[in-house]
Amino acid sequence: MRAPSKLDPKASLPSASTAGGPGGDLVDHYGRRIRYLRLSVTDRCDFRCTYCMAEDMTFLPRGQVMSLEECLRVVQAFVALGVDKVRLTGGEPLVRRDILWLMARVSALPGVRELVLTTNGSQLASMAQAVREAGVRRVNISIDSLRPDRFREITRVGDLSKVLAGIDAAVAAGFAGIKLNAVMLRGFNDDEFEDLVDFAVARGIDISFIEEMPLGDTGHLRADTCMTQDEVLPRLQARFGLVATGEDSGGPARYWRMPGSQTRVGFISPHSHNFCDSCNRVRVTATGDLYPCLGQDDMLPLLPVLRDAAGGHTDTALLGAIRQSMGIKPHGHDFDVRKPAPAVVRFMSLTGG
Ligand code: 5AD
Ligand code: SF4
Repeated sequence: MRAPSKLDPKASLPSASTAGGPGGDLVDHYGRRIRYLRLSVTDRCDFRCTYCMAEDMTFLPRGQVMSLEECLRVVQAFVALGVDKVRLTGGEPLVRRDILWLMARVSALPGVRELVLTTNGSQLASMAQAVREAGVRRVNISIDSLRPDRFREITRVGDLSKVLAGIDAAVAAGFAGIKLNAVMLRGFNDDEFEDLVDFAVARGIDISFIEEMPLGDTGHLRADTCMTQDEVLPRLQARFGLVATGEDSGGPARYWRMPGSQTRVGFISPHSHNFCDSCNRVRVTATGDLYPCLGQDDMLPLLPVLRDAAGGHTDTALLGAIRQSMGIKPHGHDFDVRKPAPAVVRFMSLTGG
């Protein structure tokens, strides 16, 4: 495999195309226009999901984590470059103190069409209403099992009843959309997919099933647990009469509908139905590292630019660095679950879903 590149954000490197909107739209070498930023606001989480983290995680020292003001500057720079959809993710974004401040600022930015959130749901029972009022339009809530003992086994520490209360609170808060996310895990939740769909249907919300990705060494061989869309979709089609739609919510999921229900069933299938050709997004970690691809280690650190006093904190340098990153956006991931050591050493909790 090729070595990942780490760009020096202060060096002048050729960027890909910068033609277009007010700040110059972000277009990569493969002609993909980037309009979607996923910003991880913390690597911390109150769960320890087995597919996401190692049992014994060390979290980042706070000094290395962007302040919320720095997060806002990063979002503003992306918006000036044509990004109009922002997802806040983590770790667990709702454990970050004052996160509502950031949500309210981001959602109020002219140019932000949609602010969305990925959460494990643990804090939603008390926070859903405030999150909605801070301008978050849609939420994705992770739930891999509806059985308390299994839920605890998969999350290592999670309390299912809190997440269920969180989902109820989200439904009551009136988001424009709620989607459940379940990672398909052979031997852990593979007999529950129908129950999870029934659960979503009963609440009139969407659900996506995700193929497990080999990110970080979580202590198990992903080939043992990873299941694909090709295995699960026929089962759900037979049970629910799912019909394919061409609907695109601007992310990697592909959707199916069923007669007589609002619920859409989605699949996020990096292994069996690679979606990289239509990728429209990049990620920034809580430490300000810009990863143009979830499935590769190439990155560009933005923190030196953000904290460069000599630069007088002008955001021209930040805009330049972000433009440069288009030059290192790879064509796609090369995930291989059969390899004992994952190609990408980062845990999912660093870059978020
Ligand atoms: N593979 C696939 N999905 C993952 N998630 C976390 N780690 C992985 C992984 N290794 C999912 C979570 C959540 C979102 C943040 O990403 O379940 O829905
Ligand atoms: Fe936390 Fe989400 Fe990772 Fe689970 S998948 S440990 S909830 S960040």
